[in-house]
Amino acid sequence: ELGDYAHYMLKEIFEQPNSIENAMRGRLDEDEATAKFGGLNLSSQQLRHIDRIVLTACGTSWHAAMVGEYLIEEFARIPVEVEYASELRYRNPPLNDRTMIFAITQSGETADTLAAMRECKRKGHPTLAICNVVGSSIAREADGGVYLHAGSEVGVASTKAFTSQVTVLTLLALFFGRMRHMSWQAGRNIIRELRTMPEHVERTLKCHDVVQEIADKYHRCSNFLYLGRLYNFPVALEGALKLKEISYIHAEGYPAAEMKHGPLALVDENTPSVFIVPKGGIYPKVISNLEEVKARKGPVIAIACEGDDRIADLADDVIYVPETDECLQPLVTSIPLQLLAYHIALLRGCNVDRPRNLAKSVTVE
Ligand code: F6R
Repeated sequence: ELGDYAHYMLKEIFEQPNSIENAMRGRLDEDEATAKFGGLNLSSQQLRHIDRIVLTACGTSWHAAMVGEYLIEEFARIPVEVEYASELRYRNPPLNDRTMIFAITQSGETADTLAAMRECKRKGHPTLAICNVVGSSIAREADGGVYLHAGSEVGVASTKAFTSQVTVLTLLALFFGRMRHMSWQAGRNIIRELRTMPEHVERTLKCHDVVQEIADKYHRCSNFLYLGRLYNFPVALEGALKLKEISYIHAEGYPAAEMKHGPLALVDENTPSVFIVPKGGIYPKVISNLEEVKARKGPVIAIACEGDDRIADLADDVIYVPETDECLQPLVTSIPLQLLAYHIALLRGCNVDRPRNLAKSVTVE
């Protein structure tokens, strides 16, 4: 099953051009410039009635939910909240009768996510699953949902499930957007960008050798910071989580501008900062955050867009990714971070596919 790959994690990272394609297959409607789903099990009147969405999940799936929040609010202008399932299940927040819940989960068996979903269902909210494992508990108990079709994910560190979740959330944002404020033309633009995504991801994977060199340079460090803004803020959190879980290095993700409110004190010559700084409106702001770190002698690894000829003078190391629409950047910027965690873990002699203390599906509270 592993083929030529040394580990499942690496195999699953390299499967992403395909898994992203599979998440979109049959779901793009060019004529109507929207997405379509077979299993939402709600009428368009019911869906039109929704005025608030809660996304609930754990871990990496929770990071995908955070990208989803930005996407849905931007495309559809529906207020979205992202809740840790472990909190939501005991928190009893006020949800109105127009609130819809999505439980996001690779395995479909995460105990907290299942419990949060049951609690929302019991209260009568339409409760849908975004899930990979067909026939899993969450998939069965949800009122409806969307499968990822990512294929089985064996590595404990979630990789392809994350990009598939983000893809499905993009489709949902497009769908809700086109029921509300989004124009046909804007919908078509998103579809066009989505269609080129498998190619973009394929090209991103070519950074593998560069990432390996960077891993070699920094694998002995004991602390890392991951920084990004807007759509790349959740990517920073996800990059830090990947590094923590498989290489046992302490890492923290932050929205880049939060640095000066505390974390900047951690910066020194031995604490690398991974800056996710692709092209876009926020670019100059992230660059000034990056310069603050450089001024404190912190090594900087930048994830930047191809054609950015300025970044190499500012950062110690650069990993280039193809340019894409800002709202779709997480699908490419997350990939070098997965590879970086993988190579650092390898160099530290860690068990990449089965990290200590962790299980692939967390079926206990
Ligand atoms: C991290 C990771 C975990 C899971 C979390 C939720 O790489 O794999 O953080 O994302 O345990 O799992 P699912 O998505 O199966 O509910």
